[in-house]
Amino acid sequence: MTAAAVAGAAYLVAALLFILSLAGLSRHETARAGAASGIAGMAIALVATVVVTVTGAFASGAAALGLPLLVAAVAVGAAIGLWRARSVEMTGMPELIALLHSFVGLAAVLVGWNGHLHDGGLTGALRDIHHGEVFVGVFIGGVTFTGSLVAYLKLSGRMPSKPLMLPGRNVLNLGALLVFAALTVWYIVTPTLALLIAVTALALALGWHLVASIGGGDMPVVVSMLNSYSGWAAAAAGFLLDNDLLIITGALVGSSGAYLSFLMCKAMNRSLLAVIAGGFGAPAASGASAEVGEHRETDAEAVAEMLADADSVVIVPGYGMAVAQAQYPVAELVERLRAKQVEVRFGIHPVAGRLPGHMNVLLAEAKVPYDIVLEMDEINDDLAQTSVVLVIGANDTVNPSAAEDPSSPIAGMPVVRAWEARHVVVFKRSMASGYAGVENPLFFRENTQMLFGDAKQRVEDILRAL
Ligand code: TAP
Repeated sequence: MTAAAVAGAAYLVAALLFILSLAGLSRHETARAGAASGIAGMAIALVATVVVTVTGAFASGAAALGLPLLVAAVAVGAAIGLWRARSVEMTGMPELIALLHSFVGLAAVLVGWNGHLHDGGLTGALRDIHHGEVFVGVFIGGVTFTGSLVAYLKLSGRMPSKPLMLPGRNVLNLGALLVFAALTVWYIVTPTLALLIAVTALALALGWHLVASIGGGDMPVVVSMLNSYSGWAAAAAGFLLDNDLLIITGALVGSSGAYLSFLMCKAMNRSLLAVIAGGFGAPAASGASAEVGEHRETDAEAVAEMLADADSVVIVPGYGMAVAQAQYPVAELVERLRAKQVEVRFGIHPVAGRLPGHMNVLLAEAKVPYDIVLEMDEINDDLAQTSVVLVIGANDTVNPSAAEDPSSPIAGMPVVRAWEARHVVVFKRSMASGYAGVENPLFFRENTQMLFGDAKQRVEDILRAL
């Protein structure tokens, strides 16, 4: 059997493992097995690719580089990857993911350029198809590269999360797509370097503009959309490199990312088409219009007393719980209250924190039982009958102006209706706004009390008082 045939079989096994991985990752209980399948699939794919490249079974330029260079490249990449994965804080994951997406985009651009320089002596229709692949690959890669870079800069706070509001931005985006279509036809007819440079510049500018035009509250959808783009960029590179596994993996990432974006758009009451077009997150209002007034402060002893008297408690965690690493004392608080026959449940907003499932991961880490962790839609109707809602480091995801103020930048986004409970206690360090930069009227409601300070320390204070 040839090396190419063995590699083909290995690729098939790896592809199946990736599908199993996606299926496993979709549920808490099977997530570990899903991650293991993904790792196994990637290990098989890497070994097969190295073998095939080195033996030169697939006619590829890289074969000439030889084993030492390939192993050195993999080793350097693996070392940097390991170091980053070990050192990154959970709260820094989204920006790291955005940065990794940008690498996929850049790789697709480079593969496309390589495809332009080496067209493999193709002729006729095959040559036209090859040039179409080059052009589309460079375009998707370029948009993914700069779009992901902007997402990285915004998520890491190196660039303001406020949307860039260029006049006629939708016309600019649509115009760029039309120019791309025209250039593609032109390039297939006359594949010149000048056209390749033009499409690269166009894609880089479009990617930058699409994501810069999105407001902070809508970034989760953008990140998952860029995840999808990076998949399609990888698939485009797979066509050019004649690598079946890259095509399959790219398509899996592209379609699962698109489906995740669709689910997020549904959860946030946004239109997927509007996300793809960019700039849907920027209505005219500044967000400063929400009612302001007097807020009331409380302390840990008073909250402990309130909790001891409560029949039912709902905890709504957010990004601040992740920053404070408050999940462990929160889990202990839950245990104590349940031991006192108080009904305790969690209400999880789909975009609470900074990455999909962020809160679920933290609560699972602290061994909170899954059956009391409910989705926003499962808990919202029960909140009016709830004695106390503890909002721990959440802000945008409990903001009533999303439901009540049509001029708010987050208008229409479903939120956890914490304000319907008898008492609301908000754990945070100041009156600062959340990620979307929108004032939160919840803090000024009659039934809301603010418990200022680091969420972990405040929960520990409550535990002591209990
Ligand atoms: P946010 O609206 O981001 O608010 C978090 C709050 O936590 C802040 O107001 C902050 O107030 C408080 N906080 C920070 N550190 C704290 C600490 N040590 N102790 C106590 N409180 C602390 O949180 P959210 O409700 O989870 O909403 C998530 C936001 O992020 C949404 O706008 C969402 O669209 C966006 N986003 C989500 C994702 C995904 S996929 N989940 C990705 C990107 C962006 P103080 O500074 O006053 O303490």
